[in-house]
Amino acid sequence: MELTCVATCSRGLEEVLLQELQLLGVRGQARPGAVEFAATWEQVARANLWLRTAIRVLVFLASGPCSGREELYQLAFSVRWEELLWREATVAVQVAGRHAAFANTHFAAMVVKDALVDRMREHRGFRPSVDVKNPDLRVVLHLERGACALYLDTSGEPLSHRGYRPRQAQAPLSECLAAGLLLLAGYDGRQPVLDPMCGSGTIVVEAALLASRTPPGWKRSFAFERWPFASTHHLKEARAEALAGRRKPAAPIVGRDLAQQALNLARKAAKAAGVDALVRWERGDVRELPRVPAGTLIITNPPYGVRLGEEAELVALYRQLGDAVKRQAAGSTLWLLLGNPRLARQVGLKACKKIQLFNGPLKCQFCAYPVVEGEFKKGGA
Ligand SMILES: C[S@@+](CC[C@H](N)C(=O)[O-])C[C@H]1O[C@@H](n2cnc3c(N)ncnc32)[C@H](O)[C@@H]1O
Repeated sequence: MELTCVATCSRGLEEVLLQELQLLGVRGQARPGAVEFAATWEQVARANLWLRTAIRVLVFLASGPCSGREELYQLAFSVRWEELLWREATVAVQVAGRHAAFANTHFAAMVVKDALVDRMREHRGFRPSVDVKNPDLRVVLHLERGACALYLDTSGEPLSHRGYRPRQAQAPLSECLAAGLLLLAGYDGRQPVLDPMCGSGTIVVEAALLASRTPPGWKRSFAFERWPFASTHHLKEARAEALAGRRKPAAPIVGRDLAQQALNLARKAAKAAGVDALVRWERGDVRELPRVPAGTLIITNPPYGVRLGEEAELVALYRQLGDAVKRQAAGSTLWLLLGNPRLARQVGLKACKKIQLFNGPLKCQFCAYPVVEGEFKKGGA
């Protein structure tokens, strides 16, 4: 059976997500923050298991114009919920997007839930219960300028929740964004990788998963595994195949940080992700960077300085980071995720590529600097 699907992602990652889907034998079409594609249940299972940059994989149910409550209710009532829900199944409705008639998204969710419950009572004679935290079936209502669409969320917990991140991590990157940075930088698992300000190690762990051909979701479960109408044996097969295909990375994957506490968390994360034997952690100041082999992808997100007074200190750090890289990493490429354009100017290297991305709500630039030897010159960025 062919399903109409949407994989959602952070804006700026649509093209890499499209390429990831192509590797799974699926052709898609990108739209802002998502890629649409047609797939079988087997491909949905593989998409959940393998996609590194997708946040959720949704299956389309219904869509239509929508100017207010009545139309939304009718649309939601038209879905054959009785074919999807079983007696003990719990549901939740999640709302995404915006619509003038539903400034209160909670209200929109209630309308969908009421229609679903009414239809179930009419067709099956029982009311499904709501479980907002851990539903068997999460319905996603997408609102967009006078129209709305309903989807089933096959992923459950967002796919960025791989399950390896320790809770105490401070200002960590989303796992999907970290994987997206690596893919945007052209990482295919064969180049050496260094994150010299690795924090809790998300970029490094994602690099190790990628280089070892480990599916990002290999240790977690997905919502569709609970559904009687979805075939789950494909997932079992895909997992077994993936585990048999794991291999050792061909080049070093290294994380460095000044803070021992951050490195402790990074080690924990690597262990939980099953890649601790594939990576190396070093404690050190980025300003005292040891020699870096030519051809290394140096990828990092330095501190942005959100608090008052921090920015002045960071001006020097960004300049010294640029200097250290020029001294020690000629022949490599530095990729920085930059959230503050004033600090970006301090790096003193000329960017050959700038990609706009979002780190949560923060608009960022992901910039590539081919590294050539030399000292910091004012106005060099
Ligand atoms: C924004 S965080 C990186 C977050 C990381 N990508 C993650 O996913 O957890 C920046 C990191 O830079 C580190 N840092 C700050 N100054 C440093 C320096 N001079 N040398 C090395 N690391 C430094 C901090 O300890 C912090 O862990």
